[in-house]
Amino acid sequence: MNNVKIIGVGSYAPERIVTNSDLSEIVDTSDEWISSRTGIKERRITEGEDTSSLAAKAALNAIKDANINPLEIDLLIVATTSPDSFTPSTACLVQAIIGADNATCFDIGAACSGFIYGLNVGTQFVKTGVAKTVLVIGAEVLSKILDWEDRSTCVLFGDGAGAAILSKSETNGILSIFTGSDGKGAEFLKCPAVTVKNPFASNIDKKSSVVSMNGKEVFKFAVKTMPIGIDKVLKDSAYTIDDIKYIVPHQANMRIIEHVAKKLGIDNEKFFINLDRYGNTSAATIPIALDEMAKQGLLKNGDKIILVGFGGGLTFGSVLIEWLI
Ligand code: ACO
Repeated sequence: MNNVKIIGVGSYAPERIVTNSDLSEIVDTSDEWISSRTGIKERRITEGEDTSSLAAKAALNAIKDANINPLEIDLLIVATTSPDSFTPSTACLVQAIIGADNATCFDIGAACSGFIYGLNVGTQFVKTGVAKTVLVIGAEVLSKILDWEDRSTCVLFGDGAGAAILSKSETNGILSIFTGSDGKGAEFLKCPAVTVKNPFASNIDKKSSVVSMNGKEVFKFAVKTMPIGIDKVLKDSAYTIDDIKYIVPHQANMRIIEHVAKKLGIDNEKFFINLDRYGNTSAATIPIALDEMAKQGLLKNGDKIILVGFGGGLTFGSVLIEWLI
């Protein structure tokens, strides 16, 4: 099996900043409610750009960081819950924008765990020698699938994209990786597609394509599965939690992260947090965080970090990375 490592990261978020106070002019909410329940202060919202455009900009930043030619990419995966279209895939749209003409392209739907699912698939392709260079993107324009009259959901999310490039390498940077799903919890967090409607259909169940969530159930799922994911990748490697410099969690809610820190008996400071500035960008939260950490110089050669996520599906996953530069 080949060794795999991350050779570049990048991100992009729309310029328009929407604060909690801005939202209080749209729905009956307040900065105090949103900040105290979630930790979110502001988020980026697109003024028209769709998911493929955000994804391509994040990808080009990662390609620059990795110092590769887009033609070297042989697999391009976009993790998204908010694609531009049913078909073509967002990955194919990104391929055309960035000129990754030699890539096989497809999307992954695993909601907020999508980037970790993408890393898992990409890692297997490189390990087995099917691909040498893989671009994994998490990208979302969630603002187009939110009910802007539902204060319980519209305040939580934002738009953005992040990307990482995996490559075959001498030393191994992806030390262990884990994904799981629980379809029995599908109802707790969903966004239906279109209604089944044709000349032969009866009992038409009219669907509304907006996000709905049972916040308490998602909370319970998150605080149960995040420690499982962290334990799993530690057990599969030779490391303990003390060897881990940072945990990069899915950025949904500060209270979830604090709960998980307490459960694991570790300081909140071990978690890298930027949800105050972006809100929950679903599949994009983890790669945006990773890019910010790299750009801020927080990641040094040999550092061990864990990425851990949970999301609609329900889905969950984690990866233990040795940062190699
Ligand atoms: N502003 C003001 N009041 C609000 C708002 C808002 N934006 N949203 C809800 N409320 C009100 C409700 O109407 C309710 O009022 P009532 O008591 O008069 O009926 C009250 O606040 C409490 O509502 P709850 O839904 O019980 O609020 P809760 O304390 O559970 O907090 C939250 C909601 C933050 C979503 C919480 O359930 C949570 O942390 N869930 C975790 C899941 C999560 O963060 N999901 C994010 C995305 S999912 C993912 O990333 C996979």
